[in-house]
Amino acid sequence: MSAPKLFAQALPTLRRAPRLTTGAIGRRVRCYTQASAAARPTNSSRVVQAVARRSPALMRAQRRTFSASPAVSHGHIKPPKPGEELYVTFVDKEGVEHKFAVSKGDNLLDIAQANDLEMEGACGGSCACSTCHVIVLDQEYYDKMPEPDDDENDMLDLAFGLQETSRLGCQVVMTPELDGLRVKLPSMTRNLQSSDFK
Ligand code: FES
Repeated sequence: MSAPKLFAQALPTLRRAPRLTTGAIGRRVRCYTQASAAARPTNSSRVVQAVARRSPALMRAQRRTFSASPAVSHGHIKPPKPGEELYVTFVDKEGVEHKFAVSKGDNLLDIAQANDLEMEGACGGSCACSTCHVIVLDQEYYDKMPEPDDDENDMLDLAFGLQETSRLGCQVVMTPELDGLRVKLPSMTRNLQSSDFK
């Protein structure tokens, strides 16, 4: 079976799956090729290129969609309701201040990531790394926070540039008492790899 005929056969399926990657299209085309007893060996990448030439609409459909929604609506945080805003300020590595209005219950990792600040959060907020390390700038606010538990303290011990008021961003949850909190992002974070323990 010729490549164009294979495509004609495959195209309805491919169109129903607009997020297919080129590799996935290649795999599906290979399946079609193998399923056909009459098929001669077909180079799947040539087939994919032929699909692209014959079906620009398909190639457009499989491109990633672009979202123009505001950064604050990304991730796990929601914009605060009017009158319920809490304010937090991050001071980045260059010393630039970024102040955000956030909701009660948001944690500093989610806030930073939703606003494209440089906070890695390698473990996804499960208190198993120190890449969300922040330094609370005012002792008064540090004292208002619940004490770090043993897991957080263990991870903080591994943080680069640990200070008296260091916390893990994923463990600091915004409450009305913390309205006006200011934290600094450390100049570096340490992301331990399994190879570091060999
Ligand atoms: S993201 Fe890993 S401990 Fe906070």
